[in-house]
Order: sequence, then C-alpha cells, then structure tokens
Amino acid sequence: MKRKKIIIGNWKMYNGPEQGHIFLHKLEEKLNNKKINCDFAIAAPFVTLPYIMPHDHGTNKGIEIDLCAQNFHYQNEGAFTGEISLAMLEQLGVRYGIVGHSERRQYFNETNKTVNLKLKAALNSSIIPVMAFGETLEEFEKNQTDDVILKQLTEGLKEINKTQIERIIFAYEPIWAIGTGKTATPKQAQKTIKKTREIIANIYDQKTAEKVRIQYGGSVKVENIKELMEQKDIDGALVGGASVDPDSFFKLITYDQN
Ligand code: 13P
Repeated sequence: MKRKKIIIGNWKMYNGPEQGHIFLHKLEEKLNNKKINCDFAIAAPFVTLPYIMPHDHGTNKGIEIDLCAQNFHYQNEGAFTGEISLAMLEQLGVRYGIVGHSERRQYFNETNKTVNLKLKAALNSSIIPVMAFGETLEEFEKNQTDDVILKQLTEGLKEINKTQIERIIFAYEPIWAIGTGKTATPKQAQKTIKKTREIIANIYDQKTAEKVRIQYGGSVKVENIKELMEQKDIDGALVGGASVDPDSFFKLITYDQN
C-alpha cells in the first residue's frame, strides 16, 4: 500500500507573527503553480498560526499550508492558565497537533499518560494527532531503543481502537538526533520505524500497521531528506531547524523534484 509522505515543519519557539507573515509570503511565491507531491504543514507557535493561514483560504487560487499545533490540552475548557484547547485550534482551522514531543516530555512534564489523554481527546475532535516518541542517547547506547518505544507506544495508545489509530500520524524522533546535527542514518531510522510498525501490528493488526504513516525527525535537512524518504517504512519528516527558513522548507517539501 502506498502511503503519501507528510512533512511537518516544527518551528518550536521560533518565528513570531512578523517572521511568520514574511515566511508565508516567500513560500507562497515559491509555491506558485508548483505541484507538491507530499502533504505538508507548519507547526508554528500559537500566536503565529493565524499569520500563516493562506490569504485565499477556500479558493483554489493558491496553496494550502496546513496548520499544526505544537501542543494542546486534553480538556475542552477550564481554569488551565496558559493552555490551549482543541476546540480553539479547530476555530482557527488547524489540521494537526503534535503530542508528546520530547521537549514537552523533558521540560513540561508530558508523560505517556498525558500523551494518551491528549491522543484520545484529539481523536474526538477534527485535529489529527502527531504522536512523537523516541529514545534518549543513554537508552540508545544501552541498546534499549526497542523497549523504550514499545513502552511509549503501548502506554500512549492505551484504549485507542483500530479505527481510531489510523488517524494518528507517528513521529519517531531519537532525542540524541534532535537539534544536534547528528542524524540517525537512514538505515538506523528505517530499522526503528520498521520496529514501530511491527509493534503497531502486534497491538492491532498487520493491515492497520501498513496504513499508518510514520515520520522520522531529528536533524533532517535539505542534504539528507531524500535518502531518508527513500527508506521503505519512512513516510515523512518532522523537521525543526531546517523548517524555519522558507527557502529551506520549500526545498524540503520538493525533495523529490530535484
Ligand atoms: P531538528 O530538526 O532541529 O533536529 O528538530 C527535530 C524536531 O524536534 C522536530 O520536532
């Protein structure tokens, strides 16, 4: 089964409304009449999201940049200072939302339990969750990668059924490769992503596992994206640093045309 690639730029805490506006303008110029073969989206800071909405949303003149949230709360509303709900993101027309990014796990107490709550909440909304997971350098060096991702996936996907899981996009991001310039080799990334598919097949079934899209993330850039995307089980990329600049992001989403 052919799975369509999906490339998401995760801006993290870069590009405010001003830079987002300029980015959109530049990217739209480049995309003019260009055919893009993959799905693509930008996970901008919350305040920037409204500034990267295509000007001609709803017409077929321009391109559609899908919006992605970097995080969201699992409750609909409430006294949760500083948080954003899925319903709020829906009002903006946001399509995707990242869950369990390693930086959120590391600095903001995101756990497999909250990942699970967020996934379930997203699956009850129109937002498509992008579930990030991956091992630390220490776990990698101790050869514990498979055990770590098994635990993250099993606990994160608790009580989520077969039909629901097909809506989830997975993003394998080895923590030692994030922002370090140290990319997992295409072979290493393929190996763990294949393992991920096997784990999903064990929890659900083979057919379901063949359907879900699994991205790789960690120092993906213009120079290495093509080789990564050629791997059998890698269905896209979650890109940090190299997605912040419009020229670079454009090259990433047209990697197959150069
Ligand atoms: P870098 O591409 O900057 O390594 O970041 C990866 C990442 O964390 C994307 O979510």
